[in-house]
Amino acid sequence: MENFKIDVDADGIALVTFDVPGRSMNTLTSGVMAEIPQVVERIKTDDAIKGAVLTSGKASGFCAGADLGDMAGGMLAGGSLQDAFDAGWRLNGALRALETCGKPVAAAINGLALGGGLEMTLACHYRVAGDSPKIQLGLPEIKVGLFPGGGGTQRLSRLIGVQAAMMAMSEGKSFRPNDAKGAGIIHEVVPVGGEVEAARAWIKAGGKAVQPWDDKSFKLPGGGPYHPAGIQNFLVGNAMLRKQSYGNYPAVLNLMKAVYEGVQVPMDAALRIETRYFIKTLMTPQAQGMIRSLFLSKQELDKGAVRPAGVPKSDPKKVTVLGAGMMGAGIAYVQALAGIETILIDRDQEAADKGKAHVEELLKKRLSRGQIDQAKFDALLGSVTATTDYDLIKGSDLVIEAVFENREIKAEVTKRAEAQLQPGAIFGSNTSTLPITGLAEASVRPEDFIGIHFFSPVDKMMLVEVILGEKTGEAAIAKSLDYIMKIKKTPIVVNDGRGFYTSRCFGTYVAEGLAMLEEGYAPAMIDNIGRMTGMPRGPLEMHDDVALDLSVKIAKQTKEDLGDAYEPLPGWKIVQTMVEDLGRYGRKNGKGFYDYETKPKKLWSGLSDLAPVKINDSTPELVEDQKRRLLYRQAVEVARCWEEGVIDDPREADVGAILAWGFAPWTGGPITMIDQTGLKAFVAQADVYAAKYGPRFSPPQLLRDMAEQGRTFYGDFAGKQKAAA
Ligand code: NAI
Repeated sequence: MENFKIDVDADGIALVTFDVPGRSMNTLTSGVMAEIPQVVERIKTDDAIKGAVLTSGKASGFCAGADLGDMAGGMLAGGSLQDAFDAGWRLNGALRALETCGKPVAAAINGLALGGGLEMTLACHYRVAGDSPKIQLGLPEIKVGLFPGGGGTQRLSRLIGVQAAMMAMSEGKSFRPNDAKGAGIIHEVVPVGGEVEAARAWIKAGGKAVQPWDDKSFKLPGGGPYHPAGIQNFLVGNAMLRKQSYGNYPAVLNLMKAVYEGVQVPMDAALRIETRYFIKTLMTPQAQGMIRSLFLSKQELDKGAVRPAGVPKSDPKKVTVLGAGMMGAGIAYVQALAGIETILIDRDQEAADKGKAHVEELLKKRLSRGQIDQAKFDALLGSVTATTDYDLIKGSDLVIEAVFENREIKAEVTKRAEAQLQPGAIFGSNTSTLPITGLAEASVRPEDFIGIHFFSPVDKMMLVEVILGEKTGEAAIAKSLDYIMKIKKTPIVVNDGRGFYTSRCFGTYVAEGLAMLEEGYAPAMIDNIGRMTGMPRGPLEMHDDVALDLSVKIAKQTKEDLGDAYEPLPGWKIVQTMVEDLGRYGRKNGKGFYDYETKPKKLWSGLSDLAPVKINDSTPELVEDQKRRLLYRQAVEVARCWEEGVIDDPREADVGAILAWGFAPWTGGPITMIDQTGLKAFVAQADVYAAKYGPRFSPPQLLRDMAEQGRTFYGDFAGKQKAAA
């Protein structure tokens, strides 16, 4: 075997070491899946083996789960349903054979065990994990549109009860070792390094080779569907899942079905039920789209798929952040975590110190959670220098500017900072709205000037949008991406333009909500419909979050820039009145479409005077149509960005949309949505909306041409990649 090593000691205990060659982390590749049955067979049939300990040979973890790249296509490759079932059953069947092999098997979990990794250990009779904050145990499959398909739905439900298991699996939540022990997922936590010994000791002490569910006296904790308490789990759980997912995720429903049906039958049948629902889920467009965008494409971007190959790899060690406000401080924090020395500059020492205090606050949270120790805390905080002294910029590989959103101020700090920069160093602006080409006019080295657009809050948001000015050079792109990869964020690279890619397309969601408000939809209905599409919040709530006065500011700037070509958006007057006459700025001053004095927030009662409710129809047909309207409006804008050359890679467009503004993840992203809808159907529906609501819905010529020629975005892209190879 390539991936497993088996050493039998004098006591007859086999140490099975899982170690995929040439990879830093174990995953369940097709090679591993093929070898697991061999491992089980050996344990079962080798008379010299009395029991077995399963552990990992990797320092980085036990196993991160299925190799989704292998799996996504692999299981469905045969074409027939039976082939797909057989492929899906392979792991399930092997793990069932392991837990019924007649010999005690213990898992020594010496690193993170997620998805299929944790499922392997659940098929062992005993689980012991090291006491390390780095170890996470969980079943996160739901995050890519799947659910556990290696026995997890059945074993976890039988271990900790339906309610707790459903919660863990529907949220994809992971547990630290002590919490996992408290929940009943593992049996023992020992000091790091002692996992194998503890597992051995359990076997030597006569550990039983029978799973609780194979014992005749087994009772499902909390009860099953026909138990008075158990039924509640399904009644309430069903409603809760519906509330969370709005029926957008087949994985959520199929997960619940697998648990509901599975816990009523013996384990062998239960596992077959799980595999059936698993394969059914894997075949849905939602799972296919989510796996591609949220896992495969994201991973490719994380590894620098769009980095110019000709530029040698760089490693930024010292980076200056100009402006220690909300964004600057957040950036300083993620840099510190990545081991980058940071100079944090503001107008006066007090403002700079305030920024550093925010870094300290975030680091304290990590300290209190045990993610770093005091020495590390001191070192990380010490790596950030709060100052007003531009001389300290000297030696920086990169400067990130995050001062006020004002051209003159940005121009001034650009000049001052550049005077300190060595050749080859890059200047990045975190502007959210100002075109990069214009800002670069203040620079004496525009080839080194680039947009590096973070999202708020910086410590949580995974995406960074890199924006190219007209004169930005290849080296600046490559160095910016090296920096973004170092701080462990996902980069996309887009071309300059009003609102770049993410703000421009996100803006259409918010603006369409406003149009609905003007048409007479009830505000509550607008936000409910928004959430029902799978967007994280409704358009009015999101508008409050980004601030209404900011919208007014941007609209005024756009009017100034476009002159006669400017057309105010529908509903625009409502916002203007709210800001200019009523001082309602949004969440930031507690007054917007909602009032924030009470929790939960309440819709502002005065809104009905500004926008009287005229539409009282809430039939499912209307709701479906308006849901589609909100998604289409965004997708049309994405296609327009493509036509204008703002974006040109479907991976960036999809991953960027989901990570930046929460574009309904179940779709796999706007480009996947257009492809899966079919270009012809998409264009036809967009034309219907254009006739009804206006030219903002008109599909760009590009889409018409693609529809005509039977092309798709991902089809074209695959062709391009093939040609390049
Ligand atoms: P902020 O107002 O919290 O921070 C700006 C900081 O810049 C303040 O501490 C201010 O004292 C400092 N500053 C102003 N003039 C300066 C000068 N001449 N020299 C040095 N420091 C100076 O603003 P925030 O929200 O952090 O935004 C900063 C930039 O990031 C803006 O360009 C904004 O458009 C952009 N941005 C903001 C996002 C957000 O959600 N707030 C998201 C993405 C980008």
